Amino acid sequence: MRLKIIGSAAGGGFPQWNCNYRLSRAARTGAQSVRARTQSSLAASADGKRWVLFNASPDIRQQIAETPELQPAADGPLRATPIAAVVLTNADVDHIAGLLSLRERQPFALYATRRVLDVLEENPIFKVLDPAIVPRRELATDGACDLRDAADVPTGLTVEGFAVPGKVALYLEDLSRPDADYGSEEGDTIALRIRSREADAAAFYIPGCARISADLLRRLDGADCLLFDGTVYTDDEMITAGVGRKTGARMGHIAMSGENGSIAGLAEVAIGRRVFVHINNTNPVLDEASRERRAVTAAGWEVAHDGMEITL
Ligand code: MLT
Ligand code: MN
Repeated sequence: MRLKIIGSAAGGGFPQWNCNYRLSRAARTGAQSVRARTQSSLAASADGKRWVLFNASPDIRQQIAETPELQPAADGPLRATPIAAVVLTNADVDHIAGLLSLRERQPFALYATRRVLDVLEENPIFKVLDPAIVPRRELATDGACDLRDAADVPTGLTVEGFAVPGKVALYLEDLSRPDADYGSEEGDTIALRIRSREADAAAFYIPGCARISADLLRRLDGADCLLFDGTVYTDDEMITAGVGRKTGARMGHIAMSGENGSIAGLAEVAIGRRVFVHINNTNPVLDEASRERRAVTAAGWEVAHDGMEITL
């Protein structure tokens, strides 16, 4: 199974269009230790020919342009794509807006939980993907699902989705219910265990997670590879950077560092490779020369960059 991280930044990307924080500035000026990154998305393939996208970021057009595996084969028909299916982990803008760029009457299958499918149905702009051409399939959170293309041909990949602690998408928050996590419900954010039929290996894709729960610890034990929420290094980082008023927790993202952070919380779990994805433009680990980046690396974690490939 091949995994390609085609977008490793959180919502906004890196540099973010309107951001003057030192990290975005460094990325914009091409500083040596800082690489630009597009918004959160993963591509996976069982056979290296047909690909499944996990989340469709607003940068999808650029991501396809930079990933030959996702482009029409030179000897293919006039309209073609190796993208057989798209699976969504939540309804965040950085994970669904790219669907709008996949219009042009091209068949592929779309998988998401009922909650996320409802969001797409309630927003008529997503009708640009005609359900007669792009079937929408409900992803259950209680078992494995073979991913098939629009014509029902198996892709060779299987996913198991399960709810993780998280939050409803920012634009769906019920601000009158701060005590109820702004109207979040279980399943607003899911994790995916991705497996190919052939390879005896599994990867977990979890770009958003608010807490390390006992259920998550149990499921991750023995994982070959974990791609995990690396939004912020410290919970109050956006506040101390002066760019916002929200903590990571308020956005549904656990911090990397600290006693309640993901590095400490997952330290005792047996995991083959642990890789941070969905990295916000305030996260100091984006600077490869930073103290924080050294600390993350010393703790056994990798920091994803666009184009990073993992073979299992
Ligand atoms: C998130 O991951 O919290 C969202 O992508 C934030 C956003 O909508 O920009
Ligand atoms: Mn996001």
